[in-house]
Amino acid sequence: MDKPEKLMIDGKRLDGRSPEELRPFKIVAGALERADGSAYVEMGNNKVFAAVYGPREMHPRHHALPDQAVLRCRYNMAPFSVDDRKKPGPNRRSIEISKVTREALEPVMFLELYPRSVIDVFVEVLQADAGTRTAGINAASVALADAGIPMKDLVSSVAVGKVEETVVMDLFKEEDQWGTTDMPIAMIPRKKAITLLQMDGHFTEEEFKYALDLASRGCTQIYEAQRQALKEKYTMRKEEE
Ligand code: CDP
Repeated sequence: MDKPEKLMIDGKRLDGRSPEELRPFKIVAGALERADGSAYVEMGNNKVFAAVYGPREMHPRHHALPDQAVLRCRYNMAPFSVDDRKKPGPNRRSIEISKVTREALEPVMFLELYPRSVIDVFVEVLQADAGTRTAGINAASVALADAGIPMKDLVSSVAVGKVEETVVMDLFKEEDQWGTTDMPIAMIPRKKAITLLQMDGHFTEEEFKYALDLASRGCTQIYEAQRQALKEKYTMRKEEE
């Protein structure tokens, strides 16, 4: 797509949202039968699954740590998830996103409970529309809880940024591509602790502070939906018994 002439029209964004609005989102806990824990997340046009296995024995053994579990995250994009077919397999971008996903989640885990083991987190992006790392972190967080792995809290994530001169919540593809700034953030909303913060582009100090506040509000909304998704899964399970 060519660069649109304007990304904001009369204070509204090209998809009709106000600057402070999240895209419509959906979070389902336990979306896959075979994994120990799983989740499905839509944030706008992003469609992402997360599957968790473990804690289980680490293979290869020499990757195990004597005093804690290893959290092993793999972010992967399906070839059909983007406009131009993506070559299957890992690349620099996916390796980087896998690493920051792990680092965003580690602060809420009790890895010391499971020495010599591994907890595997697979994030599979089926459809991408900017912010896939944030959708992946939201899904992974719910999938870990769904697997029954003890956690201090959930991690919630959203990107904020700047489009033309306006600070906006949850950028979609055109804004990510043609906007001034993209700043994905992950938080433990109840603690207001930040576990991921990356930034492309620029902000003034004032804009940065406002963007952080916007991200915090977005993460809180997502956090409520993550908790609701887990509650629904366990209410359903109880009813089935
Ligand atoms: O997805 P996220 O915003 O976390 O990461 P990004 O590297 O900033 O990518 C932004 C968007 O570019 C992705 O969500 C995709 O929609 C798109 N993209 C693409 O079209 N082809 C790729 N090989 C990688 C990304």
